Amino acid sequence: MDWSAVAHAWIDHEAPIERAHSPIKNELLKRAALRSGEKVLDLGCGSGALALAAAERVGPQGSVIAFDIADAFVARVEERAKDVPHILPVQGDAQTFIFSDVKCDAVISLFGTMFFPDPQVAFANIGNSLKDGGRITFVTWAGPQHNPWFSVPGKALADALPEMPKPDPSTPGPMAFANVEMVTDLLSRTGFADVAAEEIDTHLTPIGAAADITAMMLAIGPFRGAVSQFAKPGEERSAMDSIAKGMTAGYGAFAGEQDVRVPARVIFYTATR
Ligand SMILES: C[S@@+](CC[C@H](N)C(=O)[O-])C[C@H]1O[C@@H](n2cnc3c(N)ncnc32)[C@H](O)[C@@H]1O
Repeated sequence: MDWSAVAHAWIDHEAPIERAHSPIKNELLKRAALRSGEKVLDLGCGSGALALAAAERVGPQGSVIAFDIADAFVARVEERAKDVPHILPVQGDAQTFIFSDVKCDAVISLFGTMFFPDPQVAFANIGNSLKDGGRITFVTWAGPQHNPWFSVPGKALADALPEMPKPDPSTPGPMAFANVEMVTDLLSRTGFADVAAEEIDTHLTPIGAAADITAMMLAIGPFRGAVSQFAKPGEERSAMDSIAKGMTAGYGAFAGEQDVRVPARVIFYTATR
């Protein structure tokens, strides 16, 4: 996945995304139990909501490295953290970055660990960023059957583009770490101890109505690429319309009086070095 291509659209929709992720971010911070003075690495920091919250917890005696592969996200964190000198934005690929000088107390990640082409290499490398006894806490999505946030657009795409092959959930992407046994085994094989996983049911409550959520997902997701690849020539526009219609109807099923409240299931993974 080319995150540099997605980053600007993601940043444009930062507010609804952050509102949707907020309860999960708070639960992650509770589990990470960051203390004043600690040095923390936020992996795949995106536009920086978790790094900013972590910086409050560790205080100016501590520090937070806000680490991301996409320059645009790193620039966005620089902008948001201009008055928070103990946030250090760093661009790099977690799979190859040389972390040996870092030695953090904690690594945290909000949906930033499921995109590595080689997770074994990536987690062995990420382990180098932790001091002995350091801890890692990250959250991933459970499968699409528990997450309409993803299954609604998945169904809309499949209905509009019958020629499109079914996505393989084990390839890098949002669902890649839905298999708890695979991920806990991966952590154990890459030098982590005290490995644990817990699945939690929650809700995503982004800003806006179902049509706004659809517009946001269409902006940040891979829909246009899929349409140009799999729609019949000349039918691209009607395929996009039908995807948008399907998504708005799907998300609309979760509309309450004030908000759209989409049920979700996430998995918190924890381990020590
Ligand atoms: C789903 S987004 C999550 C962003 C942010 N943590 C949030 O919750 O809003 C995944 C993030 O991981 C970053 N990422 C993907 N692969 C990466 C890699 N190999 N090294 C560092 N960051 C990576 C992306 O650029 C993106 O910011």
